[in-house]
Amino acid sequence: MFSMNQLSPTITDMIRFDHSHVMVTFHQYTKDKSPSVKKALADTICTALEIHATLEEEVFYPVMRQLDKGEPFVHKAEPEHNDMRRLIAELRRTSASDPRHDKVLLELMRDVIHHVADEETTLLPQAETLMSKARLSELGSQMTKRRMELVAPKAGKLAKSHAVGFSGSTTAMVVGGLSALLALRTLVKKPGGASSNTHTWANANSTPHAS
Ligand SMILES: [Fe+2]
Ligand SMILES: [Fe+2]
Repeated sequence: MFSMNQLSPTITDMIRFDHSHVMVTFHQYTKDKSPSVKKALADTICTALEIHATLEEEVFYPVMRQLDKGEPFVHKAEPEHNDMRRLIAELRRTSASDPRHDKVLLELMRDVIHHVADEETTLLPQAETLMSKARLSELGSQMTKRRMELVAPKAGKLAKSHAVGFSGSTTAMVVGGLSALLALRTLVKKPGGASSNTHTWANANSTPHAS
């Protein structure tokens, strides 16, 4: 029977989109940026990673654990999230004018790249093998609902950090906008060209919160 959930982008595509978005933000952080821009970019990255990690832990990993108890990555993914949370806490309590801020941010970036590589080359393809497209879309819909709950209380702060963090880079705004458009174009391709749920997901991702 037809369900609105089937119009949702799949959970695996949403996770990839989150990863792309946080990497675009990491790439804006360079040593020569002012402390206020560095702090805004770090805030955007930290909040995006926290929301993404919570979504994976609540919606995605439990399903994967049930489907494949022997899959090794899913068992080390949460401890890796906790390592990232430790670095996020350290980054938040470090002044952006302190040279340690750059060091901690780059350490976080290295951990995120490693973790994302494991997810995108192991866990997401595994999910797409083990689950139907309809099930992946249903989980995508669940993730969107939970994302809205997590983003709502932080929406104002997220918008402000994003505006300050990206203010010095027209190129970044263009690249970010293009990647968002390309991702949306990919994600909105539905059987029969349906697109009614696209708006919901696009809105849910219009503030920075990916990893
Ligand atoms: Fe993860
Ligand atoms: Fe992830």
